[in-house]
Amino acid sequence: MTASTAPLAVAPRPPPTAKKLSGKTLKASETRWDKRGAWFLAFVTAAAVVGLWALSAYQIDVPPHGRGPQGDTVIGYALGFLTVVLYLVVGMYSLRHRRRVQKNAMTRTWMEVHLAFGLVAGLAAVLHSGPRLLSAAPLHGAFLLAWLGLIASGVAGKVIGVVVPRRLTRIEDEALLVEDVNDRQAALRKEVEELLQANLEDAFVDYANNVAPRAIRNPQHYGRRRLRRPDVIEEVWNETNGAAVLPADKHETARRIVTCLVEERFLDQMQRYHWALRAWIPVHVALTTLCFPWLIIHMITVFLL
Ligand code: HEM
Ligand code: HEM
Repeated sequence: MTASTAPLAVAPRPPPTAKKLSGKTLKASETRWDKRGAWFLAFVTAAAVVGLWALSAYQIDVPPHGRGPQGDTVIGYALGFLTVVLYLVVGMYSLRHRRRVQKNAMTRTWMEVHLAFGLVAGLAAVLHSGPRLLSAAPLHGAFLLAWLGLIASGVAGKVIGVVVPRRLTRIEDEALLVEDVNDRQAALRKEVEELLQANLEDAFVDYANNVAPRAIRNPQHYGRRRLRRPDVIEEVWNETNGAAVLPADKHETARRIVTCLVEERFLDQMQRYHWALRAWIPVHVALTTLCFPWLIIHMITVFLL
């Protein structure tokens, strides 16, 4: 914030871009306050949930005159009801997210509401049940498990969404689409095959098929050298003792094969990262969908059966 206002104070007439920039910065800080507001409200709600449960456990429903905190006490019903409200609030992100015309800041705020209140929804459901999982009736216990799976998949997705893009940019020279990665891998495989066809000596084939691939590690292993591919190739070449185990006239071709194999290994890892970025979402959405009819079934069974 201060960085953006400082140039305005020094220069009497700021260029138009400076005005634009400061406007953007202000918006960003506005959004940060929205985020903090969402987490603050979620924290207050979580404190109220724990407070209500403690009231039930240590005051209102204490045995012998009560049965301890349960789903069918007054506080149990209140927590169950709150869980449903939170489910609706959190699920609204999905609706807003799908709208084409919307403000970015608004979406980010909804995302924060989604994360913060999603966690509270997990806490409220657990405390609504008693907490009771193993001793709960199987249908209700399984419902709670599915619910916790929904929350856990969301948390996993958030962690993946933060960690994976950072790692991806550390091994990507340029932003690649999954299809580009596939094409590149196919081209590399073809090149290695052609080089092997042209050099069918046992020592060379063994080097290309076994020795070199075994020496190539996960990109994370190379630390900061990951982005300097020639260093990685040199390391593999030295570790496999390529210069000593292969005749001199094969060195250049063998180094080219190492280059292709290193590149392929890195592309493999990129594929895995791209997959991780997408794979959790269907699980999260499927559990969201599953929990809706299950919630109805839960309410019907606890009342009617
Ligand atoms: C995501 C939401 C919910 C989850 C995960 C959940 C889960 C559970 C679990 C695990 C139990 C313990 C069952 C047992 O001890 O056998 C329970 C009990 C109960 N729940 Fe829920 N519940 C939810 C929402 C609701 C709602 C909205 C209501 C009511 C309107 C409700 C009403 C009850 C009642 C009455 C019981 C006591 C049943 C008994 O002891 O037989 N629940 N719930
Ligand atoms: C009641 C609990 C929850 C429900 C019903 C729920 C539902 C959903 C749905 C339906 C989506 C898909 C949105 C879309 O693409 O249209 C979604 C996305 C997502 N959820 Fe949840 N969620 C819950 C809890 C959580 C929690 C606790 C977290 C993490 C702390 C979380 C993190 C995420 C993330 C990161 C996305 C992807 C957002 C994006 O890429 O746009 N969710 N959730």
